[in-house]
Amino acid sequence: MNLFDVYPLNNIAITKANGSYVWDANDIQYLDMYGGHAVISIGHTHPHWVKRIEDQLEKIAFYSNSVVIPIQKELASKLGALSGKPDYSLFLCNSGAEANENALKLASFHNGRKKIIAFSKSFHGRTSLAVSATDNPSIVAPVNETDNVIFLPFNDEAALKDCFAKHGSEISSVIIEGIQGVGGINIATASFLQLIRTLCDESGAVFIADSVQCGYGRSGKFFSHDHAGVNADIYTMAKGMGNGFPVAGILIAPGIQPKHGMLGTTFGGNQLACAAALAVLEVIEKEDLINNAKENGEYLVEQLKQIDGLKNVRGMGLMIGFDVPEELKNLKKKLLFDFKIFTGEAKPNVIRLLPSLALTKQQIDDFLLSLKGAIEEIVDEQKELAL
Ligand SMILES: Cc1ncc(COP(=O)(O)O)c(C=O)c1O
Repeated sequence: MNLFDVYPLNNIAITKANGSYVWDANDIQYLDMYGGHAVISIGHTHPHWVKRIEDQLEKIAFYSNSVVIPIQKELASKLGALSGKPDYSLFLCNSGAEANENALKLASFHNGRKKIIAFSKSFHGRTSLAVSATDNPSIVAPVNETDNVIFLPFNDEAALKDCFAKHGSEISSVIIEGIQGVGGINIATASFLQLIRTLCDESGAVFIADSVQCGYGRSGKFFSHDHAGVNADIYTMAKGMGNGFPVAGILIAPGIQPKHGMLGTTFGGNQLACAAALAVLEVIEKEDLINNAKENGEYLVEQLKQIDGLKNVRGMGLMIGFDVPEELKNLKKKLLFDFKIFTGEAKPNVIRLLPSLALTKQQIDDFLLSLKGAIEEIVDEQKELAL
């Protein structure tokens, strides 16, 4: 049987990983500045994470949400404390798209409305509502098309005010990434997020903070929306939550009431997933990783800004992007194949850095040296070609 061919793959098989490094089948080491698409939060195969999963596996891996699962409560309480939102409730599921799907649906149950506001360059996942609220027509199937989603320009306060003035009473929710990931590391301004909060309060709409990629400490605060000093009504979380173990969830503000049967999942919140998620939070706390992301992220941005050829260096914490000019369009490939460094991209010309929150200053310096070397090599190759 063949694999269904939907991924453009790099021809590298990763067989081993540790911290911020991975190794291929030929035992060649790579520095991972991408974290498998922002998933690796505490470092690959962290010993505490491995041990907690192993210990749990020996007791019980799964039983469905038809019985009391005490480790879910343990996770909720730790998450409430570390996120600074102890009065919110937790619903557990399995992926980022599923988290957003549940958030949008819950908002609609809550206020009985249908319209969703989403923004240009947004990415919220590939399931039905999540993909409808994603600004990429090429991944929206005809069956997902709906006129319930209104797209507005990102960070455009006038357009947002105008939309609420016209349709305020019909808006069920506003969904926004605090820092757009797939869209190319675009930061929502504090005043835009504050305006969303005000307009949602005035109109009874639900503010959904998609924190699937930018959350869980990556930005240097637990949620990137925290930088704006506002609370959302629902936070969606996935990637960094399990450090590679599939687990996701939504945090729900106290004003939104549950009803039996309104949300549900078979796998969500299973014992093994909760053990992985608890291990992540314990390591984030013990190793002070949110501060590490903040401090090392600031250092990395500062250094990147001094490199000739890189444009518009931006980001918060360890969620960083920069534009590369046309002449350097092969930079990502060169870094991977010649310098053994994984980075991410956003179309057409953005390099995205989403390393583990435990990345060290030494690893940053190694990366910067290689980055400068890769740029020099490309420039030299182009000079040779021009001769
Ligand atoms: C901001 C954001 N939301 C949602 C998703 C979807 O997450 P998943 O791929 O786990 O469904 C992603 C994935 O990249 C994302 O970046």
